[in-house]
Amino acid sequence: MTAAAQQSPKQAGPLDRLADVLRDDMKRVNETIVDRMKSEVALIPKLAGYLIAAGGKRIRPLLTLASAQMYGYRGPAVYGLAAAVEFIHTATLLHDDVVDESAQRRGKESANIVFGNQASVLVGDFLFSRAFQLMTESGSLDALRILSDASAVIAEGEVLQLAAVSNIDTTMNDYGRIISAKTAALFAAACEIGPVIAGAGKDSAAALCEYGMNLGIAFQIADDVLDYDADEKQLGKTVGDDFREGKMTAPVILALEGATDEERSFWTRTMADKKQQDGDLARAQDIIRNHNAIRRSLILAEEYVKKARLALAEAPDGPLRSLLDELAAYTVSRSS
Ligand code: IPE
Ligand code: IPE
Ligand code: MG
Ligand code: MG
Repeated sequence: MTAAAQQSPKQAGPLDRLADVLRDDMKRVNETIVDRMKSEVALIPKLAGYLIAAGGKRIRPLLTLASAQMYGYRGPAVYGLAAAVEFIHTATLLHDDVVDESAQRRGKESANIVFGNQASVLVGDFLFSRAFQLMTESGSLDALRILSDASAVIAEGEVLQLAAVSNIDTTMNDYGRIISAKTAALFAAACEIGPVIAGAGKDSAAALCEYGMNLGIAFQIADDVLDYDADEKQLGKTVGDDFREGKMTAPVILALEGATDEERSFWTRTMADKKQQDGDLARAQDIIRNHNAIRRSLILAEEYVKKARLALAEAPDGPLRSLLDELAAYTVSRSS
């Protein structure tokens, strides 16, 4: 439980409450994570430990634990799978910060800055491989298939995004395809493996996959809004990274739809030609605000939240379902 949740449990958000309900299980997952990031090659636990000790919300392994328990699963295989999900996520963050040239992650200097790009890429590869070992050990071929499919899709999403960088003709459709792959696929897989290991049947697996997919899309749209509109300290990442990289996300694509000629040439200079100067980020934020593009992005995210909740309604009623239902709304209202 976070300090905020301890002080005032009634006001704690759904993520804190979910972490609280699943505290003992999450402890097992964290033990697995710490145990399996070990290696005789000292730089591996040093670098991985640096990022993992910085925290992170652990939302994906919590989704796996919750979705398994919601369908009555009580065995030990879920711990390794939830750890594998977090390892896949951690590996993608290590790689993503190299590709995005990001300087901050989880409120600290990112691993690429502290240890360099090469070490980050290689340790990311190690964590991916560890994830596959954990999945194999789970003994569930279905879980292995779902998570390995998701890993391939994430990589495709990151490459798709790379190809769209600086392309100011990127559409909301293109953007949807990118974020479904790079982010939502892992949310979907994390949720789907719960009913799968519980042996709950195809319809339940499909419902939880649908919940996770829509949750992940909403989560990434909110993340892209935060990149223009967050308190940097709370976010733990640098605001404006997407702008500096020329990454085409919902706030910019929506602002471009109704852009004046002058605004369009601003986006062409800053995003397509990446010729940026002091004050450009503030100007981008102004244009985005004037086009209501933050609000419109969040409204879009809310539509995915609704879809997620609708899919979840198929799951067995109970306290975990209620928390997952609330968690859907949290993904859009979050500030970190
Ligand atoms: C960051 O994910 C990457 C995105 C998909 C936006 P999280 O916001 O879940 O990162 P941590 O694990 O809490 O740091
Ligand atoms: C998250 O993408 C990385 C993956 C989902 C693989 P972003 O680049 O948008 O996320 P942040 O802002 O760096 O966390
Ligand atoms: Mg990034
Ligand atoms: Mg981002």
